[in-house]
Amino acid sequence: MQSKKYLQLTLAILKPHIVKSPFALQKIRDIIIDNNFKVVKSRRTTISREEVELFYREHKDKFFYNRLMTFMCSGPSDIYILAEHDAVVKWRQLMGPTKVYQAQYNAPDTIRGMFGLSDTRNAAHGSDSTESAEREIAIFFKEFNIKKWYNNEEIFYNLGRLHFDPISFVHTIDKNFVEMRNKPVKK
Ligand code: CDP
Ligand code: MG
Repeated sequence: MQSKKYLQLTLAILKPHIVKSPFALQKIRDIIIDNNFKVVKSRRTTISREEVELFYREHKDKFFYNRLMTFMCSGPSDIYILAEHDAVVKWRQLMGPTKVYQAQYNAPDTIRGMFGLSDTRNAAHGSDSTESAEREIAIFFKEFNIKKWYNNEEIFYNLGRLHFDPISFVHTIDKNFVEMRNKPVKK
């Protein structure tokens, strides 16, 4: 298990009805940044049937499976790798309960409470454990190597030595800081 001092990674998806609604999208992006998450990777894509079948394989016998598949492939989603201390739990707390009526009544200030439309169109996804996060990251960010990220990049995200691009909605390592660190010290 990662020690508490390291950042944890989680996979977040802003589902298709959010990406279609600029106000909702911006508000949720603001919540992410205001809660100190670092956006390690960010992509917008229409999820394919193959990807979503793999992603939601645990639900394949549920009554809602077909409508979930259809909805998730119905238009572009935003998919992020987020880093923060206790990212998995923290992001799920910000999302609120899975069921939208429950969210609206019991947790109206959560993302699902504010922007969920139905139990299927419940605005956002968040990994439910670090194991799920690893599995889900591998589905949507095939080139992303978690081990390499911890070895080479986690420190910069942890120390906040970052540049944030609000348009592409991603944090990248601040090159000036890397160069400063690598400069030989004058004696
Ligand atoms: O997303 P979360 O982990 O909170 O819930 P889940 O139980 O793993 O369900 C996965 C997704 O299935 C939910 O986020 C909903 O989009 C969908 N779902 C649904 O369409 N109808 C339900 N009654 C329950 C879940
Ligand atoms: Mg789940």
